[in-house]
Amino acid sequence: MTINTIIGGQWGDEGKGKIIDHLAKKADVIARYSGGNNAGHTIENDHGKFALHLVPCGVGWEGTKNLIGSGTVIDPNVLIKELELIKENNLPGEIFISEKAHLIMPYHIKLDQAEENYRGNKAVGTTGRGIGPAYSDKISRNGIRMGDLSNLQSLKIKISENLKIKNKILKEIYGEEEISEADIFDKLDGWYKKLGKYISNTEKIIHENIKKDKFILLEGAQGALLDIDHGTYPFVTSSNSISGGSLTGLGIGAKEINKVLGVFKAFCTRVGEGPFPTEIFGEEAEKIREIAGEFGTTTGRPRRIGWFDAIAAKYSAQINGLDSIVITKLDILDHFEKIKVCTGYKHRGKEIDFFPSDEIVLSEIEPIYEEFNGWNESTYNVDSIEKINSNAKEFIKNLEKIIGIPIDIISTGPSRKATIIVNQI
Ligand code: GDP
Ligand code: IMO
Ligand code: MG
Repeated sequence: MTINTIIGGQWGDEGKGKIIDHLAKKADVIARYSGGNNAGHTIENDHGKFALHLVPCGVGWEGTKNLIGSGTVIDPNVLIKELELIKENNLPGEIFISEKAHLIMPYHIKLDQAEENYRGNKAVGTTGRGIGPAYSDKISRNGIRMGDLSNLQSLKIKISENLKIKNKILKEIYGEEEISEADIFDKLDGWYKKLGKYISNTEKIIHENIKKDKFILLEGAQGALLDIDHGTYPFVTSSNSISGGSLTGLGIGAKEINKVLGVFKAFCTRVGEGPFPTEIFGEEAEKIREIAGEFGTTTGRPRRIGWFDAIAAKYSAQINGLDSIVITKLDILDHFEKIKVCTGYKHRGKEIDFFPSDEIVLSEIEPIYEEFNGWNESTYNVDSIEKINSNAKEFIKNLEKIIGIPIDIISTGPSRKATIIVNQI
């Protein structure tokens, strides 16, 4: 039996989707454990190119069970559309939704947007998908769960009670229009008709498959530096995106996990606000953004760009317990004569060797860079380590040495075949 957790090592969009789709060829179960449709995971395979927001990236493979776990939050309208897309394109994986996963209700979406407007220049830069308010309701025990959809009578009472408070906040604090109770009630039956058949006891499925010695992949969303506890708070998402979230978000014991894989881009990106020590601007940033197509998969916002940050990567390796690293988008660096990697931080003139938790300290960091020679050759779609030249190999070896974790997989393009397996995981 093998259970591997795959997480984003930076601020999200590292290419987790591409890697999970690749690894899922041999997997039996692929399970999302946190976040919601703030995520956008791109897969490109024989069926086409898809941006998945909720359904796990194993769905492109026949015989896979794709679980949306209890730790996630689900906008039913978005999930219904995604299920339709999957059906239309004949993606063959089976799909299951945890009865314990929480619903993102229309009032969560409106509150997310109203809170962001209210914060003004202190906004987090959320995706506006209702993620924070839905998780807040879960924690304050006012949430609506997928399982609740099966009992419309008691569900309506819960929603009425919630709406009384939400509408008061929307109207009296934010000066927004109230949400209509009737509009929500009208949708409930349709949601259940379209989603009911997928709602399951996902823990049971996982544990049956553990017993049968199956190969299980746990799919992270977002990235370690957006984790609610360990990320660049308050500029984070509202769930545990680190590997620990895969235990609580799916109901698995710590000793069941065999390996944790961290996916990192060969540079850094970030969407939304918050400190970003290695951020670069101007022509260099523009060049990377254009070549790499760094625009949000979910919101279309331009992603902020920076050089690879090894101090942040070492921190990420610690808080996730990484065994193995995947480097994506190596091909983007083909276009540079010199490549920078941040190997140290300076704060107010003093060197520090850790990733600070304070947002002001983080925003004042001066990165110390090491420079590496480019390779002046295309690595795009290369699928074997022998086929990349010595400078590119040298760059990978150096990264591995600096972070102190083996780089087992390298990605050189969006498709399945553009993958170098350095060591079998
Ligand atoms: P995720 O959220 O971590 O799954 O990443 P996204 O799908 O949001 O963003 C990654 C983008 O990079 C997608 O458009 C992928 O198709 C693309 N991608 C993934 N790996 C590679 C790679 O190695 N090279 C290039 N050029 N693109 C890649
Ligand atoms: P994937 O899974 C990149 C960011 C938002 C914002 C912050 C909080 O595709 O890597 P939220 O809507 O979650 O309350 O927003 O988190 N964010 C992401 N950034 N990739 C993601 O997901 C993200 N999900 C949330 O931009 O800064
Ligand atoms: Mg993404």
